[in-house]
Amino acid sequence: MKAVVLYDTAYGNTRTIAESVASKLGSGAAAVQVDGFDPGILHPGDLLVVGSPINGWKPTARIAESLADLGRRGLAGVKAAAFDTRVKLFIHGDAAKKMTKALTEAGATIVAEPMAFYVKGSEGPLLEGEEERAAAWAADLVASVQRQA
Ligand SMILES: Cc1cc2nc3c(=O)[nH]c(=O)nc-3n(C[C@H](O)[C@H](O)[C@H](O)COP(=O)(O)O)c2cc1C
Repeated sequence: MKAVVLYDTAYGNTRTIAESVASKLGSGAAAVQVDGFDPGILHPGDLLVVGSPINGWKPTARIAESLADLGRRGLAGVKAAAFDTRVKLFIHGDAAKKMTKALTEAGATIVAEPMAFYVKGSEGPLLEGEEERAAAWAADLVASVQRQA
């Protein structure tokens, strides 16, 4: 199983989470910024994790475009999950749920509930412990994939 963590970032916080997730997904896993992502590398059996900062209650335009492209290609047989980074407000909107829906519509098999990681302000930093929480979430993902195998 190849594992790819596709992410976008403006200030680096989502990259930090993406790298923490990738570090727990096995030796071949890589965190790949959306600009350099080649969707042709994904094959049935692979794991795709998508991460985006929330921008105006949605994933970034680049992540939305990449998900639309993946939707046109189809993700049948690919296992997938999504996370976002956000500020801790009463009203913050959601990107992880929207990305999970797009992955489902593309035909992927969802292996985890949408997940949120928190930053202190728009530019960060991440709240204390979020990198470790991301690593633990990734370890749970792997366990879930192994249970489903
Ligand atoms: C233009 C813009 C819109 C944003 N909209 C939201 C939002 O709707 N909800 C939210 O929780 N955070 C919002 N944020 C805060 C981002 O989620 C935060 O900047 C991001 O988590 C930082 O991640 P990054 O360092 O990977 O860019 C917004 C930030 C920017 C710059």
